[in-house]
Amino acid sequence: MNIERVSEKCAAQTVALLEDLRVSLFGIGSRRLLTVLVNDAIRGAIDCRIASDQDEVLGAVLAAPPSYWRSLPAKHWEIAVLSVRARLAGHPEGLPAVVPSETLALMRDEVPPRTWGDPGDAWRIIFVGTAARSRGKGIAAQLYQSVMTDRSLVARIALDNTPSIRLHHSLGWRLYRDGGVALAVHVRDDGDSAGAAAAARTPRSLPTSDWLR
Ligand SMILES: CC(C)(COP(=O)(O)OP(=O)(O)OC[C@H]1O[C@@H](n2cnc3c(N)ncnc32)[C@H](O)[C@@H]1OP(=O)(O)O)[C@@H](O)C(=O)NCCC(=O)NCCS
Repeated sequence: MNIERVSEKCAAQTVALLEDLRVSLFGIGSRRLLTVLVNDAIRGAIDCRIASDQDEVLGAVLAAPPSYWRSLPAKHWEIAVLSVRARLAGHPEGLPAVVPSETLALMRDEVPPRTWGDPGDAWRIIFVGTAARSRGKGIAAQLYQSVMTDRSLVARIALDNTPSIRLHHSLGWRLYRDGGVALAVHVRDDGDSAGAAAAARTPRSLPTSDWLR
């Protein structure tokens, strides 16, 4: 299996996988948004790494700097419109999550070194996921190890998503209760300087054309 940055060659397959896995941002899960994310990753504005085997994309992780959340709707009017619509519609109120006691036991009772709202040099995880048929083979762990080497990261996880909570815990992320979700924090070893350097390197200047439409 290969872990690599997403490229033009596997862009369409990556969008298809993200669509299968129902990835959403700003409450939007449209193919258009996923295409924008993959195009932005190819140009280096965000970080998307994929796991592939014989040219089949089996998993993906996407991370973005906090500034990306502000710039995305400003650059893509159709995403701004969808995002406002999603906000007006509100999120469907699900039943409160039943949180397993073993999950609660993993939550640290201390002030987190990074938060979702104030991540500092850390990038926010948009999504990590593995195709349903390929789970339990260490793919998400390998994807995460690849991106964790390069930067500090924060992620938000539903408290009832036990596979994801365990994935983060097994890789050494620190877990905190953050209202109705878990906040997971990974601080890279020589964190601040390396993270600041990585943040300063990106986003690169963006070409105007997209690989996928
Ligand atoms: C969570 C998810 C990404 C894990 O992907 P994966 O490739 O199956 O995970 P891995 O095989 O790399 O497992 C790594 C570790 O995660 C934990 N883990 C993964 N799946 C698990 C499960 N079903 N139950 C409990 N722990 C699990 C284990 O600690 C595992 O290490 P171990 O096998 O040594 O015990 C996958 O289930 C998925 O794509 N879920 C849907 C999308 C999602 O919820 N993403 C997270 C959003 S925050």
